[in-house]
Amino acid sequence: MAPFKDYIVLAALTLLPTLSAQNTTWDHSLYASSPPVYPSPPTTGQGWEAAYAQADAFVKNLTLEEKAGVLTGVAQGPCIGNIAPIPRIGFPGLCLQDGPASIRQATFATVFPAGLTAAASWDKGLIYERGLYLGAEFRGKGAHIALAPVCGPLGRSGLAGRGWEGFSPDPYLTGVAMELTISGIQKNGVQAVAKHWIGNEQETQRNPSVSDNGTTIEAVSSNIDDRTMHELYMWPFANSVRAGVASIMCSYNRLNGSYACQNSKALNGLLKDELGFQGYVMSDWGAVHAGVDSVQAGLDMNMPGPLGFFVSEPSFWGPNLTLAINNGSLAEERLDDMVRRVMLPYFHFGQNVDFPPIDPESADLNILGVTPLLDTFTYGPANVDVRDDHAKLVRDLAAAGTVLLKNTNNALPLKAPKNMGVFGNDAGDPTNGLYTLKFVGEQNYEYGTLAVGGGSGTGRLTYVVTPLDALKVRTQQDGTLLQYLLNNTLISSDPTIAFYSIAPSPPEVCLVFLKTWASEGADLTSLEADWNSTAVVENVAGYCNNTIVVTHTGGPNTMPWANHPNVTAIVAAHFPGQESGNSIVDILYGNVNPSGKLPYTIANTEADYAFAGITNSTELQQTEDPNAWQSDFTEGLLIEYRHFDYYNQSVLFEFGFGLSYTNFSLSDLSVSKIGNGTISASPPQAAIAPGGNPTLYDALFRATATVSNTGSVAGAAVSQLYLSLPQIPGEGITPLKVLRGFEKTSLEPGQSAQVSFDLMRRDISHWDTIAQEWMISSGNIGVQLGFSSRDIILTDSFSAL
Ligand SMILES: *[C@@H]1O[C@H](CO)[C@@H](O)[C@H](O)[C@H]1NC(C)=O
Ligand SMILES: *[C@@H]1O[C@H](CO)[C@@H](O)[C@H](O)[C@H]1NC(C)=O
Ligand SMILES: *[C@@H]1O[C@H](CO)[C@@H](O)[C@H](O)[C@H]1NC(C)=O
Ligand SMILES: *[C@@H]1O[C@H](CO)[C@@H](O)[C@H](O)[C@H]1NC(C)=O
Ligand SMILES: *[C@@H]1O[C@H](CO)[C@@H](O)[C@H](O)[C@H]1NC(C)=O
Ligand SMILES: *[C@@H]1O[C@H](CO)[C@@H](O)[C@H](O)[C@H]1NC(C)=O
Ligand SMILES: *[C@@H]1O[C@H](CO)[C@@H](O)[C@H](O)[C@H]1NC(C)=O
Ligand SMILES: *[C@@H]1O[C@H](CO)[C@@H](O)[C@H](O)[C@H]1NC(C)=O
Ligand SMILES: *[C@@H]1O[C@H](CO)[C@@H](O)[C@H](O)[C@H]1NC(C)=O
Ligand SMILES: *[C@@H]1O[C@H](CO)[C@@H](O)[C@H](O)[C@H]1NC(C)=O
Ligand SMILES: *[C@@H]1O[C@H](CO)[C@@H](O)[C@H](O)[C@H]1NC(C)=O
Ligand SMILES: *[C@@H]1O[C@H](CO)[C@@H](O)[C@H](O)[C@H]1NC(C)=O
Repeated sequence: MAPFKDYIVLAALTLLPTLSAQNTTWDHSLYASSPPVYPSPPTTGQGWEAAYAQADAFVKNLTLEEKAGVLTGVAQGPCIGNIAPIPRIGFPGLCLQDGPASIRQATFATVFPAGLTAAASWDKGLIYERGLYLGAEFRGKGAHIALAPVCGPLGRSGLAGRGWEGFSPDPYLTGVAMELTISGIQKNGVQAVAKHWIGNEQETQRNPSVSDNGTTIEAVSSNIDDRTMHELYMWPFANSVRAGVASIMCSYNRLNGSYACQNSKALNGLLKDELGFQGYVMSDWGAVHAGVDSVQAGLDMNMPGPLGFFVSEPSFWGPNLTLAINNGSLAEERLDDMVRRVMLPYFHFGQNVDFPPIDPESADLNILGVTPLLDTFTYGPANVDVRDDHAKLVRDLAAAGTVLLKNTNNALPLKAPKNMGVFGNDAGDPTNGLYTLKFVGEQNYEYGTLAVGGGSGTGRLTYVVTPLDALKVRTQQDGTLLQYLLNNTLISSDPTIAFYSIAPSPPEVCLVFLKTWASEGADLTSLEADWNSTAVVENVAGYCNNTIVVTHTGGPNTMPWANHPNVTAIVAAHFPGQESGNSIVDILYGNVNPSGKLPYTIANTEADYAFAGITNSTELQQTEDPNAWQSDFTEGLLIEYRHFDYYNQSVLFEFGFGLSYTNFSLSDLSVSKIGNGTISASPPQAAIAPGGNPTLYDALFRATATVSNTGSVAGAAVSQLYLSLPQIPGEGITPLKVLRGFEKTSLEPGQSAQVSFDLMRRDISHWDTIAQEWMISSGNIGVQLGFSSRDIILTDSFSAL
């Protein structure tokens, strides 16, 4: 959502040149419009059969005005999105709340590790538990609908301001994480919302703007070819629909020139027809730019309702929907279908029977809400504490999502150092408050550890354990002398003066804490950590020969200092949530053996990522052409490790990489067919179910192997299975390898376990743009099993047909 007009505090970055990974000339004219797909497919309630009758009876009970009300948000409510109650029939309304890492607009709630951190754990159990606890907290606060989780942005560019809200630029890893998170949230009877559908890969010009000359300049158009749409950007949404997600939020950007919330190809075609989505599409906040057209295109709920968000403002919907029915431009069947779609999850989850009342404190905290509030909402007690014992998961998951990237001379784990120095403005307490909703740039957050990013994906911290706090506690156990310097300007500009205060000098171990601000509403302008981070690291490392760097950031960073001989260890701790310090101390001292793996690639230089940057330039910023903002996804499937592998480019730390304090081995890879039937190239015809053709999810092959802990301490291995699928003539470039399975296994020293990976039909297929179908091609499928995308230990191959 966007409570403010985005304002962006950014430095220069020109439009980056793009390579044509499609290896065909990109014909921009093919992306000038979207094919019309009408009418909007009605829901059948598949998967929610019992609720269908209730939703249908509910619709029949409503007047036309009431139907419009169920579909259009109102600003006079206590939540970030509100559907007004209908007291006449005992409908209490719907409370929608942000966001993916916390119930943001709440007191006494937990701030969990970000999606990115959860993905870096590669731990299915912990990812599910995070969803489960998030759901419990939304429920406890009376929020029917959680605006979470996120798989768009997927992570085409590491500069995307919201990359950390979601999981990983790898669609398979993100798909698994979406499914687990949705299942967890919905297990508590709270409706999950997979967002943002689709192609929402940058914040820059995500919304229209007005030029100096008063022309409306439309939002950026994401122009994505059909195969890439299916194999990358739609993939995790398909998992979400299959997991029974209640709602999908459409995004701000345009697709082939037409706004995502009124794009019939995307909503009616891809989502409701092809993926068989039975719930409701809600708009992102203010993403609706038309009335009847958005309804016909497949949008079912308009949020926040009024244009410009406030009650005094008109709406494209609301009374306009009744008008449109009455003047014949909209069929009432479509309105009824929309109401059924909205009400199906409500009845399915029994929210009509048993759901806690809304915590009224959220009204006071609602920056969008306007008074007076409707007096028909049902309130319970204020400031309900929903945190329970969730802090334990926060601590465990953040440690599990912390990636050890470098560890020379056994710098880690720490062994009772006599003398420790802590450096950097990310180590200590925030000085400007614990809540970072505003989309302002990093300048307001100079001092203090960054536990979570900004914007609607943030959370209201009830406390944060800083790295410095936790180190102060831990160092006392060993009598370690702990001294610290938190001023990056001082460290970077005048190290002699800075280090003067430390004695004896230099410390035996120096910890440097770096951060990168990231928020909805603005993209990053650099992948280097903020606040003169490179000078800070170089100055500390120039003086201290045992310098350990810890980063708190929302995605890939460049690390120009990574090979500095005095930088003995590097730890990527991502956005860890409220237990930050405890989680990092667990890793640094070896209470927890690091087992996180990068869910993205760290390239050697920022220029290495230029193949898929943010679309932006000075010319675009000054344009008078309404249609000027065009983002051609010419790299096709070759984002992230798929790009670096295809072009055989070296990277600093590859996708899937992460060190441990022990060693693991893999052996005995074997691949076998499941069942004895013949496998057809195209999926057997079957009625569409949520997720698409259900046979796409049939397990056809199983790979098994043995993983062993060959070191001397207990630890967890992440076995990663990659497939090399055949090149398809005329269908662009197939990546050399794609992740299609992963398992995390905890092992004692000397212990072994079997891991197995079921390969579903979709996993071994490609999207055929002519057949408009997932197809298995003849030819060998390579199997690569290892501990990262470039640490392949065992290989095999099979032919599916
Ligand atoms: C976009 O371009 C403008 C003008 O060159 C620049 O000021 C701004 O920082 C850029 N934004 C990003 C995210 O790079
Ligand atoms: C593109 O195609 C040309 C000729 O068809 C080939 O020589 C070249 O290697 C291809 N480039 C890539 C990046 O695949
Ligand atoms: C965008 O255009 C491409 C090329 O014509 C087409 O394949 C694709 O389906 C279109 N996508 C949407 C959402 O309109
Ligand atoms: C229909 O409305 C009546 C009151 O007019 C109410 O008692 C009943 O529960 C409603 N049915 C549904 C399905 O909402
Ligand atoms: C903006 O408006 C001025 C005054 O009407 C006009 O001279 C100028 O050409 C316009 N600029 C563009 C880019 O259209
Ligand atoms: C109906 O929509 C139009 C924009 O199309 C807007 O100008 C008008 O104020 C709306 N009416 C209401 C009652 O919101
Ligand atoms: C009917 O009403 C809708 C909503 O106000 C409006 O957009 C549309 O132009 C109207 N159509 C006719 C034919 O009056
Ligand atoms: C940080 O150091 C700089 C340079 O010495 C100084 O100007 C600034 O006041 C210091 N900041 C704080 C908060 O002490
Ligand atoms: C970076 O260091 C320079 C001096 O070297 C200083 O002027 C500048 O304010 C510092 N920037 C930040 C963000 O600390
Ligand atoms: C490494 O640290 C030592 C101090 O122990 C220092 O003398 C040396 O110059 C440092 N090396 C580099 C490359 O900065
Ligand atoms: C690192 O520096 C310490 C003193 O600061 C010194 O005792 C030690 O030998 C140095 N180690 C290396 C590997 O240079
Ligand atoms: C194929 O599998 C089915 C079910 O697993 C089994 O009943 C049948 O005997 C098998 N047929 C052959 C030829 O192995």
